[in-house]
Amino acid sequence: MPGKVYIEGAIVDADAARVPVFDRGFLYGDSVYEVLRTFGMRPFALAEHLDRLEGSARRLGMTLPDRATIERATVETARAAAEPDVYLRIVVTRGSGPIGLDPALADAPRLIVIALPLKLPEPEQYERGVEVAFVGARRNAPGSLDPLVKSGNYLNSVLAIAEARRKHAYEAIMCDAVGRIAEGSTSNLFLVRGGRLATPALSVGLLEGITRRHVIGLARGLGLAVDELGLWPVDLHDADEAMITSSVRGILPVVRADGRPIGSGAPGPITRRLMAAYDRETARDAEAGPASGA
Ligand code: PDD
Repeated sequence: MPGKVYIEGAIVDADAARVPVFDRGFLYGDSVYEVLRTFGMRPFALAEHLDRLEGSARRLGMTLPDRATIERATVETARAAAEPDVYLRIVVTRGSGPIGLDPALADAPRLIVIALPLKLPEPEQYERGVEVAFVGARRNAPGSLDPLVKSGNYLNSVLAIAEARRKHAYEAIMCDAVGRIAEGSTSNLFLVRGGRLATPALSVGLLEGITRRHVIGLARGLGLAVDELGLWPVDLHDADEAMITSSVRGILPVVRADGRPIGSGAPGPITRRLMAAYDRETARDAEAGPASGA
């Protein structure tokens, strides 16, 4: 398997990396993580991902290794993978310990950085768009495991994507307990209605995607109005355009939901403008050259 992994302070081949069975990330999903990619071998928006990682850890009362260590491990593992561009997954578990839920049983946080060859959706999926499906699995209520926390506990999303795949859809769209749209299993959702961009408000209970934040900024920079509000499945079915966003995929047009076309059934003009603006932003970042060793 190509790729490199930072674990226990060293960078090893991806298929040689091992986590002990008493690690709480393995036993309970007691971990936080980030996924990002490089552009021109620079981890894109690394500072924002580290900020979010810190926010996730804070909400779980988890201690992280110091930021400079995580940053250096990320940059060096990316470089060691020796690929033109890489997928990066930064994971911090609460550590190992005797079996028992009490977080006080954990020894010390375990930092893992996975760098793999970048695997993007097919060019055809960017050109022609993808299909999504609403699924029965609900997004956690913010009073439960807050969706703002990017934790290793992803079983709802695993069930969601399994259901979507049974429906031959590319991504699952999850709703909250009252049926409002929250987000995809690993993406945020945007709609275009009457020339305005709309996306579920964070108060619904969803991950504050870093790509979501960039897309909102780019849209406003293009003079587009952006509404963050409560949205219902009918709003997606009736939208003029739709797209999903995530760090690895960027912006991917959504052209069908539950087997029915959205708008014209093809990627719309505002989606294309935003995709071009996002490409320009990431290309500008790549021009700064490969990241130095932090
Ligand atoms: N997931 N919502 C959820 C539930 C996610 O897991 C993700 C990202 C996003 C998009 O966030 P961002 O733009 O910061 O990548 C939204 C990553 C890609 C993953 O788990 O693979």
